Amino acid sequence: MTTRPDDHVVAAMALRDLARCARLEIELFTEDGPWSESALRSELAAPHNRYVVVHGDDGEVLGYAGIGLLGSGEGAESEIHTIGVAPAAQRRGIGAALLRELLRYADEHGGPVFLEVRTGNDAAIELYRRAGFEVVGTRKNYYQPSGADAFTMRRAAAGTETTA
Ligand SMILES: CC(C)(COP(=O)(O)OP(=O)(O)OC[C@H]1O[C@@H](n2cnc3c(N)ncnc32)[C@H](O)[C@@H]1OP(=O)(O)O)[C@@H](O)C(=O)NCCC(=O)NCCS
Repeated sequence: MTTRPDDHVVAAMALRDLARCARLEIELFTEDGPWSESALRSELAAPHNRYVVVHGDDGEVLGYAGIGLLGSGEGAESEIHTIGVAPAAQRRGIGAALLRELLRYADEHGGPVFLEVRTGNDAAIELYRRAGFEVVGTRKNYYQPSGADAFTMRRAAAGTETTA
């Protein structure tokens, strides 16, 4: 059974969500420098960031994501900082719903959106491609401590052509 992205309620991340998100960071990004609860708290507090979550029926966080605005004014660029979905809740449209909300936030400012993703992370790359991102570069040895490479991906500003 699949659940369409529209069925997931995406809410602003709250302080009470942080402990669970930090546990998911460890589970999902063990080798790639998972963020601690205090690092996530700083991300949440930063003025030009937007962090969102999807909760399960029991109130537990199933997925979370964050984006930051770089600079200010019309056409300011944005950068996706993280997106993660609990393994047991993956492939139910939660990642797509979270990403859609991040892009809605970015589109309020009208600029392109960038992100880094592990070169072998086919699930995330496919998620991003379907949302209009394309690979524009490779960053060697980007993740630590793993030393894994990252693709830089870019989504053109809403309403404009891609560069490829
Ligand atoms: C990447 C991630 C966030 C996707 O979340 P998700 O809730 O499972 O994704 P969705 O169910 O919304 O999938 C949306 C689309 O993404 C693509 N996708 C998702 N998982 C995929 C997989 N394992 N293999 C191939 N494509 C996949 C598909 O196109 C999918 O659409 P479909 O189910 O209609 O085919 C999740 O796999 C995850 O948390 N991975 C570990 C953390 C991570 O790598 N985060 C990204 C860091 S850059």
